[in-house]
Parts: sequence; structure tokens; C-alpha cells
Amino acid sequence: MSGDRLSVEGGNRLSGKINVGGSKNAVLPVITASLLSSDPCRISEVPKLVDVEVILDVLADLGARAAWSDGELTIDTSLLSNYEASDEMVSKMRASILVMGPLLARMGKAKVSMPGGCAIGARPIDIHIKGFEAMGATIRTENGYVLAETPGLKGARIYLDFPSVGATENLMMAASLAKGPTVLENAAEEPEIVDLANFINSMGGRVRGAGTKIIKIDGVPSLTGCEHQVIPDRIEAGSYLIAAAITGGELVVENVIPDHIKPVIAKLKEVGCSIDEGESSLLIRPSSRLISADIKTLPYPGFPTDMQAQFMSLMTRARGASVITETIFENRFMHADELRRMGADIRINGRSAVVEGPSDLQGASVKASDLRAGMALIIAALAADGVSEINNARLIDRGYDDLVQKLNSIGAKIKRA
Ligand code: UD1
Repeated sequence: MSGDRLSVEGGNRLSGKINVGGSKNAVLPVITASLLSSDPCRISEVPKLVDVEVILDVLADLGARAAWSDGELTIDTSLLSNYEASDEMVSKMRASILVMGPLLARMGKAKVSMPGGCAIGARPIDIHIKGFEAMGATIRTENGYVLAETPGLKGARIYLDFPSVGATENLMMAASLAKGPTVLENAAEEPEIVDLANFINSMGGRVRGAGTKIIKIDGVPSLTGCEHQVIPDRIEAGSYLIAAAITGGELVVENVIPDHIKPVIAKLKEVGCSIDEGESSLLIRPSSRLISADIKTLPYPGFPTDMQAQFMSLMTRARGASVITETIFENRFMHADELRRMGADIRINGRSAVVEGPSDLQGASVKASDLRAGMALIIAALAADGVSEINNARLIDRGYDDLVQKLNSIGAKIKRA
């Protein structure tokens, strides 16, 4: 994982076969959900990612123990002794707040540093907090921490102001051990929510409706250990498809659930690529000439915000103007400035970016502002003339297991400095 700079030599076609790992965004809540039972849980298809290490450190602080064996992870939370996720951990990764629901449910108490030091009630965890309150928790803030306490969670009917992925997960976990039924309305519908519901149900929980806007959870007095296999990472799969598309290569992406990346497949077809769907693989064939397309990020099943940056890179090479509208996050166009340094023509207008293509991209020294932005820069660099240096590359290790080796195995020329 060491080495914070990648050097990418552009102009090489990616082709062959690449295998997708377990989903980062599915495994993080599954790991925190293991706190719901004092029995051990065994999880397979766990990707080896920096974010997974961070969440395991958070659990270790709480008194849980994790052990790897043959690529499987066993988590034992029988000796849980602490209910605090420190600022050091939460500032490393926002998803650390996913311990809050399970801790409240199991210990009746949770103390979690506020992500980004945001005021309570405002973004970014107001939806989580409102839900916990509806279930009978008392919440206060203390020195930058949110402290939640309850003599016992009660099921409730909760309408989420926005279908937040994290809030849906946190509330689903809390509700699983609450007294009585909970109904989450306007819940997030992402595949990772379904994976978490399956995990909770394997533990003996009673969650129905995950994957739709209404999730019903009947609380049970206790949950048991279980075995679970994490779903494939749809964002990793989509990123490889786009990397193949921008280099004009023919690539088979294996270990995919095609249904999970329908909007990405639809857009790749719209820009001129051909895609054959197998049961658990996708074959992408390049377009002789990429054409522009507009995208708008939306909650699932809309186009994922986590694919927006990579798609923008692709559109720099497409003929015509593409309008890319980001509706999920306010400030998620940081990669546009870096793509411009590589020769792209991109104008930002509020929540939209207009990409005029095709541009001849040139290798440059650029900086990843976040994980997906970093992947977008690698994708652009693969199609650029000359060598690019991608700084802050450690961010990319948060979400792509073995990235350099995997991309090099299909024809990329990437080195870690
Ligand atoms: C998850 C994903 C992330 C993805 C995002 C949207 C994980 C670990 N991360 O993040 O990769 O980009 O979904 O698909 O699964 N919001 C509030 N109040 C809240 C909660 C959220 O205003 O209480 C806002 C956020 O600031 C953001 C939007 O809602 O603007 C979406 O956030 P959310 O769905 O919660 O994303 P995460 O769960 O953090």
C-alpha cells in the first residue's frame, strides 16, 4: 500500500480479463453489523482495502477482535468493552459512524466523533440522529462528539428526508434489536443495503423490503453469529469498464452483478460501446468513435455519484458536449481542474459540468482529491499522451484492491513511486 504517487504511461490499450473484488461499501456496514451479536461472524470476499483496515481499527478500539484466514475475516465481538469511536478514526473515514446504530442497540450507548465537525441538526448526520431519536435515544453533543443513550430502543415509523445510504444502514441495524417493528420510509435502495439486510437476516434478524423505498424491520431480542459472502463491487467494475472504453480495448470484467450497474452499462452503450452481459461477467467492446452523453447522479437505481468522476474522464474523449450534473454531493467536481491540466475542456456551472470533447489529453502531474477522483485521473492518464504523475494516490487504495497489479495485468503501464 506504500507509495503516494503513481506514474501512468498513457496510450496502452487495456484488454483481457479482470476480476472484481468484494464491495467496499457493502463490507463496511456488514463489519459494523457484526457488533449486533456477541457470537463470531465469518465474512468472505472481503476486499483488502485501507478503508477495511480503518473500520477494523475502529472495532478493535471497541474491544472486538478480527482474524483473517484464507481470505476470510472472522470478527469476534464477545468482549466488547467500549462504546466510543474516536475523532482519530472518524476523521480518517466517515463510514466509521456506522458503529453508532449497532452500539446503541447492543450497549445502549454510543459516542462518535462528528464527521467534519459539522453542527448537529445540519448535515451531514442529521438523518441518522433524527432516526435514533425517533427510536427513543437521547442525543447530545460534547466536545465534538455525538453521545447517544437509550434505556432500550423502540421500533418506530421513520421517514428519511433524503434516502441516505449511511442513515438507512445505521437505522436498519439499530432497529434489528429494537423492541417492536420499525418502518423506514424513503429508504435508500442501493444493492449494499440489500447485502446488509441479508447479513442481518442470516444473524436471525427480520428485515423485509430492502432494495425498495420501504424497509420493515421486526426487532428481535438477540442475534446470532453467521457466515456471509460480500457482493461484488459495482463501482470497481464500472471503473474498469470505463478504463477499457477510454483506451479502446476489449475487456471481460468478471465477478459482476450486471443488474447493479445498469445505469453505467446504459451510458456506455449510449456513448457507442457495445456490452455483452453474461450471468456474472461483462464484455465491453470499444467504440470506433466515442460520442458525448449527459449524466445526472441520483440515488440508486440512478447513475451513481461514485462513477461521476470516471465518466467525466471518458467524456473528455467523446465528440460533442456532455452535461454532467451532480445532485448527491455539493462539492464533487474537484477532478475537473486536474483534468483541465491534462488538456480537457470543462466548464463548471453550479451543480453541472460541461465537457467539450474530444480533447487530446496530455500527461501531467495531477492530484487526487478523493478516491473516485483519483480513479478518474488514472483513467484519463491511460488515454493521455505521455506520462502522468498522480499524487495523493494513497486515497485510491481506500477503494481499489491491488489496483496497480490488476491494471498492469490487462496492459496498463503503471508504477508506484
Ligand atoms: C455512501 C457511500 C458513498 C456514496 C454515497 C452516495 C459508503 C461507505 N459510502 O456514503 O461511497 O458516494 O453513499 O451514494 O457506503 N446527508 C445528509 N444528512 C445525513 C446523511 C446524509 O444531509 O444525515 C447527505 C450527504 O451530505 C450527501 C447525501 O445526503 O449529500 C448522500 O449521503 P449518503 O447517502 O448518506 O452517503 P454516505 O452513506 O455517507
